[in-house]
Amino acid sequence: MRILGLESSCDETSVAVVDDGRRVAASLVASQVDLHRKYGGVVPELAARAHIECLLPVMTEVLTQAKCSPADVDAIAVVNTPGLIGSLLIGLTAAKTLAWLNNKPLVPVNHVEAHAYAACLDTDLEPWPCISLVVSGGHTTIFHSRGPLEHERIGRTLDDAAGEAFDKVAAILELPYPGGPSIDKLSREGACHAIRFKRTAVGKEGLDFSFSGIKTSVLYRVRGTDFSHTLAELDATDRADIAASFQEAVVDMLVANTLRAALDRGVDTVVIGGGVAANSRLRVRMAEECAKRGLACHIPPMKYCTDNAAMVAGLGYHLLQAGRTADLDVEALP
Ligand code: KG4
Ligand code: ZN
Repeated sequence: MRILGLESSCDETSVAVVDDGRRVAASLVASQVDLHRKYGGVVPELAARAHIECLLPVMTEVLTQAKCSPADVDAIAVVNTPGLIGSLLIGLTAAKTLAWLNNKPLVPVNHVEAHAYAACLDTDLEPWPCISLVVSGGHTTIFHSRGPLEHERIGRTLDDAAGEAFDKVAAILELPYPGGPSIDKLSREGACHAIRFKRTAVGKEGLDFSFSGIKTSVLYRVRGTDFSHTLAELDATDRADIAASFQEAVVDMLVANTLRAALDRGVDTVVIGGGVAANSRLRVRMAEECAKRGLACHIPPMKYCTDNAAMVAGLGYHLLQAGRTADLDVEALP
């Protein structure tokens, strides 16, 4: 069964063709990073306009690579939630048009659940039941996942998402946009135990996160609590140490809550996904700490961590099998 997937929830325009929910026949992502760089963040109106410009060329190229047309696929899967409303509407409208023109089922996909599925792409992995950590620019969520479509949310951030914290700390350190990869890179030059930023676990079971405190701690470290200092007063080593120590603290919190969830729920498998799952330190630490406790740990390749349509087409297959298709009046939910 062949699914055409579309993803336009934030600032990446992506289209993919995936067979049987697993094998990626073709997948392309048009990044808008250059467009948003000078603003230091995603400008929603610009993102939506860029999706309009990119979607058809990206789709044409993907269909050429997969040697098929929309008439040949079994369904059109598209992210309809969550995301930026203008961005979501572009992909959703395109998908509805394709579904209507070609008389194909339309499958709405939840972006966060698609991130939790990404580890299964190009593999025969059946990780369920598992603990899924989805860690992105908009979400930091722990699910107890009993299947690709059965996710019980058991932990979440109470304030910033982890990716958002990376991006904001990168801005404080005046590192290039996008911030997450910049912190990751600079951290390799710093000492991750140079500064002991406070680790927090919140919520009844210690499965929730809070990242706003550490962001403020970094700000005070750089500017002083009275803002009497400037970034220019720090030398290159200080900057790298702050980046590495911040990253280590965030990774510690992500790993600790995920392992606690696995042990509490008696689950022996951990899956991670989302843009922050591309972080080199998180990938190493999560794998090591899981191994120490005899837990299996599955992390998608980098290209399936950040936003992509392959995960959408992959999960779309399972939704289609479950009959979870939608009428053409299905809405985008930001
Ligand atoms: O999943 P994603 O592509 O988009 C959302 O659904 O939000 O995640 C984007 C987030 C951004 O905050 C970005 O800074 C972060 O993922 N990110 C990283 C890394 N690569 C991307 N954070 C830390 N280290 C990385 N290597
Ligand atoms: Zn995402």
